[in-house]
Amino acid sequence: MPRSIQLNARGELTHLLSTEGLPRSVVMGILDHATDFLDLERMEVRNADLLAGKSIFNLFFENSTRTRTTFEIAAKKLSADVVNLNVSASSTAKGESLLDTIDNLAAMRADMFVVRHAQAGAPYLIARHVNKVAPHIHIMNAGDGRHAHPTQALLDMFTIRHFKGDFQALRVAIVGDLLHSRVARSDIHALSTLGVPDIRVIAPLTLLPAGLSELGVHAHTSLQEGLSGVDVVIVLRLQSERMRGALLPSPQEYFKHYGLTEEKLRLAAPDAIVMHPGPMNRGVEIDSAVADGAQSVILSQVTFGIAVRMAVMSILNKARP
Ligand code: CP
Repeated sequence: MPRSIQLNARGELTHLLSTEGLPRSVVMGILDHATDFLDLERMEVRNADLLAGKSIFNLFFENSTRTRTTFEIAAKKLSADVVNLNVSASSTAKGESLLDTIDNLAAMRADMFVVRHAQAGAPYLIARHVNKVAPHIHIMNAGDGRHAHPTQALLDMFTIRHFKGDFQALRVAIVGDLLHSRVARSDIHALSTLGVPDIRVIAPLTLLPAGLSELGVHAHTSLQEGLSGVDVVIVLRLQSERMRGALLPSPQEYFKHYGLTEEKLRLAAPDAIVMHPGPMNRGVEIDSAVADGAQSVILSQVTFGIAVRMAVMSILNKARP
């Protein structure tokens, strides 16, 4: 991806579209700034008035619970005005084009758009458009098709750093539907940028995309082999809504071989943490005993997501076109 779409000539972040190609200094800057918004003892997120008078528009063309809500909370905690476009009740349903919608919202004096879209590349299209017509507007990709989910990856990196400290000696396994996962792709780019030496992916062959070795990850089809000694296990949801045709025999069969149970988790390091971006399918990719167990940090990920999104928005707000 061309560096200029996300960064301006001074190297400042102007849009957040992907973790691919993001310099380490930018990633670390976001993680460090997120700590400014957290009271870690109480696991509370602090308020700040850094975005007072700014208008943030949430444009979710695909369903979301965590990302949409935590972006809204983050923007409100920064004192911004937040507008949630109700896509199903908007003029998109009458055939208005994406860019016409953007032009109209820009005319309402938007300062930032948070965009989730089923089409990979939609946030890039919008970013290129606003660069021409309204260059003060910042775009944040909240998940585009199978392509990228950069704020999820950043909150995942924040969570890993919080529980594990340094990235330099970590063994991280990502288990599940790699083929359809924008989270996995964004996590892999971020983990590589941060210098994680051992990144593994674990899935049946039908759910492993091509080209993983070029990203420097080791692919395993055996959960037992892939989990051996890892410090972090990131479990992914089976995205049946994106699967065309039968890629798996059944959810029960999948759970038998790839579902994370307490017994299988014992193959990882004794202090390994378990993460999941949500939404979870209990009994399919993860057993409830693990999801709710002592090694699970899944709900901490959600809380950290607010602080990380606050950091992203306040950093974007400082950048000039
Ligand atoms: N992690 C994530 O993107 O969850 P939502 O789909 O609920 O936003």
